[in-house]
Amino acid sequence: MIDAIADAFRFQSDACGRLGSPLSARLCDTGLADIEAGGPLAGIVSHWDPDLDPKKNVVALRLLGTAHRLVLLGQAPDLARHYPSAGGAPGAGMEADFLALVSERADAFIAGLGEQVQTNEVGRAAVLFPGLSMAAATTGLPVRLLEIGTAAGLNLRLDHFGYDLGGVVLDGSPMLVPEWNGAAPSLVAPDIVERRGCDLEPIDVVTEAGAARAESFVWPDMTERFERMAAAVAVARKVPARLDAVPAGEWLDELFTPADGALTVLQHSVMWQYLPDPDKAAIEALVDERGARSTVSAPLAQLAFEPRFREDGSWTFELTLRMWPGGRRRRLATAHPHGAWVRWRE
Ligand SMILES: C[S@@+](CC[C@H](N)C(=O)[O-])C[C@H]1O[C@@H](n2cnc3c(N)ncnc32)[C@H](O)[C@@H]1O
Repeated sequence: MIDAIADAFRFQSDACGRLGSPLSARLCDTGLADIEAGGPLAGIVSHWDPDLDPKKNVVALRLLGTAHRLVLLGQAPDLARHYPSAGGAPGAGMEADFLALVSERADAFIAGLGEQVQTNEVGRAAVLFPGLSMAAATTGLPVRLLEIGTAAGLNLRLDHFGYDLGGVVLDGSPMLVPEWNGAAPSLVAPDIVERRGCDLEPIDVVTEAGAARAESFVWPDMTERFERMAAAVAVARKVPARLDAVPAGEWLDELFTPADGALTVLQHSVMWQYLPDPDKAAIEALVDERGARSTVSAPLAQLAFEPRFREDGSWTFELTLRMWPGGRRRRLATAHPHGAWVRWRE
């Protein structure tokens, strides 16, 4: 198992480097060397659940997330000096400060090892919002917004964010300005009358610990992502949304029903891959069954921004919209996984 864990750190270092976080890549390399040398991190990862694939379950990001959370909570001042998210800058001694923290706070790292990474990416709202706007404009009805795999529920408040999508501007905060390709969308702010989300472990960002948890999954040197997450946390503290700790299928069974005078929207992004196959099939059947019950005055929609994996191993992230009555599926856009660019097809 230790070889598989070391391999996962190697893989993660490369991924972090390519995705724009040299700080995370450096700490993955530190972790790898420490594990291979039998240092403090080797002791921590000896607690890894052997039934979990360390690469798929992102062991390195669980531990880096733990360190970042301690920094954000003010419990790791030495390491904080190196973290831009805490006003610092990566410097000499970062590796030693990281390993010292691992030794001092072994309890926190062992706990973090057992927790999922739950990146709630606000940039995805730049992809979801034009789709939601289009669905709402089609019906002219107020919206019941239901999100599965909602994490901290930040994107349940997407109508409060600001957008510049191909030159079409709506004011708000955080301001999302993706590189836009294709025709400019027509943006109409939907009237959202109900906001609810579910997650296996919802994060309550109203608390300091919850906000630190949500923020800890954003890599510390990706300042722009970090700032928009902090702005979205501020929005979430003002705009209430109910989050339930219930698995997606069970939750939809109760809530995804046509409601007279409203468009009921099931929204999800980057969560479908985590569902076991039987759950996916059950949710698909439920959605079709509820769709068949919808009417023009009680319509339903499913707005999904999820990766589409191809047989040759390649993938793209696609925004799709299905609307009932009828159930027609439209592919609205392809986009960067964090919403850095959008290729709008409509
Ligand atoms: C990568 S995060 C994405 C969060 C958010 N949708 C976004 O795009 O920013 C995936 C989330 O799905 C949740 N999740 C995984 N399986 C789930 C299930 N069966 N029911 C509800 N949520 C689930 C995880 O806990 C995690 O918070």
